[in-house]
Amino acid sequence: MGSGSGLILGIESSCDETAAAVVRRGGEALSNVVASQMALHANYGGVVPELASREHLRNIVPIVREAMARAGVSFADLDAVAVTEGPGLAGALLVGITYAKALAFGLGKPLIGVNHLEGHIHAVLMEARQRGEVAMELPLLALVVSGGHTHLYLAKQAGESWRYQNVGKTVDDAAGEAFDKVAKLLGLGYPGGPWIDGLAKLGNAKAVPFTFAQIKPRVNPAVVNRKAPPVGEGLRFDFSFSGIKTAVLRYVESQGMREGVEVRRRALAAMVAPAIADAAGLCDEQTLDLIASFQGAVVGNLLRQAFAAAEAFGARGIVVSGGVAANRELRERFLGEGLKRGLPVAFPSVGMSTDNAAMIAAAAWPRFLAGEFADEAMGAVPQMRLG
Ligand code: KG4
Ligand code: ZN
Repeated sequence: MGSGSGLILGIESSCDETAAAVVRRGGEALSNVVASQMALHANYGGVVPELASREHLRNIVPIVREAMARAGVSFADLDAVAVTEGPGLAGALLVGITYAKALAFGLGKPLIGVNHLEGHIHAVLMEARQRGEVAMELPLLALVVSGGHTHLYLAKQAGESWRYQNVGKTVDDAAGEAFDKVAKLLGLGYPGGPWIDGLAKLGNAKAVPFTFAQIKPRVNPAVVNRKAPPVGEGLRFDFSFSGIKTAVLRYVESQGMREGVEVRRRALAAMVAPAIADAAGLCDEQTLDLIASFQGAVVGNLLRQAFAAAEAFGARGIVVSGGVAANRELRERFLGEGLKRGLPVAFPSVGMSTDNAAMIAAAAWPRFLAGEFADEAMGAVPQMRLG
């Protein structure tokens, strides 16, 4: 199939962002529109699935129109419609999928289903292409780290198609979930990542020594029995973040910090749009030290596992994406370690690290070239896996 002008409309509605974007040839975002429901869910301290679906229904038509208008293209100009198939909230995913299907079949254009996690990886590659950089060499080690995921993938290309091998994941909480839960138990806002990120630099990260639950690299016994398994084969680099969350809770209780947490929670709730400086003014030194120590431990763990996996699998570079990739300490330490080891490390811009549809349209491009299209039977796959 000819690739025309290579225009793909991407649609994303897997969680609490309704998003649409038009991307040319997987490398140039002509528009990227996101309607966030963050403020709505913040009142509940987490994403409420029913509310999310209702908001997606309300937003999807105007958001797609806006993305088309900003790109300055018409529906007839599109080569394909791409949509997030999973993972995510079933009802939320269905809003995007139903709309994308109706649009694609109405226009007589191909429909492409994209894995949300693949989208996060391609967000980074798309931006590198937009900056005109030479493509990173394969295989790549991709760390997808968000509120729902902490996954390590080895990404390779087979012809036009990309192939992913999962080489590590969290056995309990996702890293972003740990940020959110710890922020909540310290009386900070939702989502917690940006609050902890902003406050951590004011504290001493060495103050509270968190003994991190180290999940040792596991070897698949089937591989051990073979004489000479290929590099890294069968090794896994998993994560665990529920232990550190419990450790923070225990620290708060044993140090008699509960009352201070309540005061802070109430004071922040009474403010219209509290900023980091407001929260900082409500934190004593011990709280700031705790926050810095927590973040330092989580980032250190992500760093160790990612670089160990990259080495074990002979990766030529590391790509970090997902909401937690916005974290400043994480960026600095990953870039520093990459420089030290001579291993390129790439991040999405802060805007592209959270959920958006440009990353969905970008990930759809190789599928378009490979002719991997979805049919009318495509449904939401809430537990969809990658690799
Ligand atoms: O990818 P994302 O927007 O949504 C999904 O979970 O799929 O990620 C949201 C997560 C939340 O847990 C949020 O607290 C975390 O990313 N996050 C951060 C930062 N900004 C967002 N975590 C640490 N530091 C940040 N600066
Ligand atoms: Zn995401």
